[in-house]
Amino acid sequence: MEKLNAMSIAKIDEIVARHKGKKGPVKLMLHDVQHELGYIPFDAMVKIADACGVSVANVYGVVTFYTQFTTEPKGKHVINICMGTACYVKGAQQLLDKMCEVCECKVNSTSDDGLFSIDATRCLGACGLAPVMIIDGKVHGNITDLSSMELLIYEMRAMEA
Ligand code: FES
Repeated sequence: MEKLNAMSIAKIDEIVARHKGKKGPVKLMLHDVQHELGYIPFDAMVKIADACGVSVANVYGVVTFYTQFTTEPKGKHVINICMGTACYVKGAQQLLDKMCEVCECKVNSTSDDGLFSIDATRCLGACGLAPVMIIDGKVHGNITDLSSMELLIYEMRAMEA
């Protein structure tokens, strides 16, 4: 298990203290930890379980149930590609393959350089725009031109250089 730095520990403690005693504290705490650290470390689950009087297994169950929570640090840029039926029949698999190739990243993981995370997701509720991909919260729909998406990724990488 990775060792958290003092700043992350302090952040978690502050979040736990902020929501302790509120209604539905587990999800509130998890939400803020995810937002602040970019993922939910195991130590945070232990602290949340302690503060809320529930088991770590209980907290872990919440983390794994909601797709918004992750137990691994994410890349700087997060790409969600919808693999729902409407997107799938309109070429989501080719889009996913292309993004994995360009970002040098496997599905549902983070590239070695820490720049990109690619997640294959269920229906994003925008089927009329199929195939749909979300990059850093921005929706890209009707993606028929894979090369323009490839270019976009190259530009993002160049900005980081
Ligand atoms: S199937 Fe992709 S948005 Fe619904």
